[in-house]
Amino acid sequence: MDTDRLLRELMDFLRIPSVSTLPAHDVECRAAAEWVAGELRRLRCREVRLLASDTHPVVWGVGPEVPGAPTLLLYGHYDVQPPDPLAEWTTPPFVPTVRDGKLFARGSADDKGQVFCLLQAIAATGRPPVNFRFLIEGEEEHGSRVLFELLRREPERTRADVVLIADMAYVAPKWPAVYTTLRGLCYAEITVRTAKSDLHSGEFGGAAPNAHEELVRLLAKLKSPDGRINIPGLYAAVRRPTSAELASWKRLPFKESEFLRHRVQAKALTGLKKYSVLERLWALPTFEIHGITGGFTGDGAKTVIPAEAKAKVSLRLVPDQKLQVVERQLTAAVKRLAPKYVHASVKFLHGADPATVQLTHPAFKLLDQAFREVVGRGTVPARAGGSIPVVPALGKSGAPVILTGIGLPDDRLHAPNEKLDLKQLWDGIQVFQRFYQLLGASRAK
Ligand code: BES
Ligand code: MN
Ligand code: MN
Repeated sequence: MDTDRLLRELMDFLRIPSVSTLPAHDVECRAAAEWVAGELRRLRCREVRLLASDTHPVVWGVGPEVPGAPTLLLYGHYDVQPPDPLAEWTTPPFVPTVRDGKLFARGSADDKGQVFCLLQAIAATGRPPVNFRFLIEGEEEHGSRVLFELLRREPERTRADVVLIADMAYVAPKWPAVYTTLRGLCYAEITVRTAKSDLHSGEFGGAAPNAHEELVRLLAKLKSPDGRINIPGLYAAVRRPTSAELASWKRLPFKESEFLRHRVQAKALTGLKKYSVLERLWALPTFEIHGITGGFTGDGAKTVIPAEAKAKVSLRLVPDQKLQVVERQLTAAVKRLAPKYVHASVKFLHGADPATVQLTHPAFKLLDQAFREVVGRGTVPARAGGSIPVVPALGKSGAPVILTGIGLPDDRLHAPNEKLDLKQLWDGIQVFQRFYQLLGASRAK
């Protein structure tokens, strides 16, 4: 493997600031799509197209035809999260830099480095006996609206024998994983309005309602200090994992104390204490406040009673919760908790249903074997706390969706100093190369 060349190429990809959540980066999102399309042409795809959007197109590709061979659909995303806070990066987010065997850049692990890994594994195999299809999207970090639209109009694009997604991590170093569930997401903006306009806090303070005060009171009522979410009906559809699954999590290399000390790096863990940390992360819904705006937040001091305040919030959903149901439940809870004199409204920004995959298809055994041969250990089943909105749609045709990846738990996705260990990348290329060979030889159709 010419690792120097591969590293240079991946760095070119990582230099493109394809932040899908910021309109100022539309041009770079397009550029990242073109970069992926160029790679697919180099793999001699019969068809390479940019679909459904000028700014955040889905990159669609059809690999060389191999009669009789199984069809494998590779999914990934070329968009990345915003890099802020910039001051906390040791080297700039879009200047990929290698330190200590790790490649630091926004998107190195999530998901450009992993998309690159899947593609280079094809190049490394020469002509694997597999019919490849590619769906590499540019809006995963923003709810995947473009891809959802495309698949609603053209569901046949997901037709395949197997779907492979590498957008996840090992559960621990040397412990590759395959994931059985992803959480869903319900992202909303709650707006509270208390008066026609801001008011002088001396003239009116003591008698006029304050939008921020009402908003924080409302938010505080939505979740109790013990971690229980006070949204009527929210937990009705939540299923406890089986005792066999809970027992299998106890055997994973995961220690709550190490998770606190090295990953969270806070003074204590919070949430529903009667459930294990893994159950809280993987099998229970969450409610998080992402940010609160409105009123006066500038330099200096201004004595004002704000008339409007907004909070960005989200809930993570678990099987068998439904996004549509949770949206209704949140709206109803906000209306019920707000006092009559407060105008409270909820606007939904994006969302995703949770996903569940069964590990019964023979292709899972082949991936397990590939990891075993290259890394020395097979895939351990786990669940994921994060979300990939289109996974349920990709599985609709009945093909198994393999959720795996080459990241490590300390890659700092979405955070400053995101990185990918290069050893994970070089191993990963060999793993997927082996997987493609095994899949082709199996004629798993
Ligand atoms: N790759 C992640 C999802 C992920 C993270 C899965 C960690 C498993 C473990 C993905 O790129 C992501 O960040 N998704 C967003 C989706 C959202 C913006 C709709 C997420 O989970 O916040
Ligand atoms: Mn991702
Ligand atoms: Mn992400």
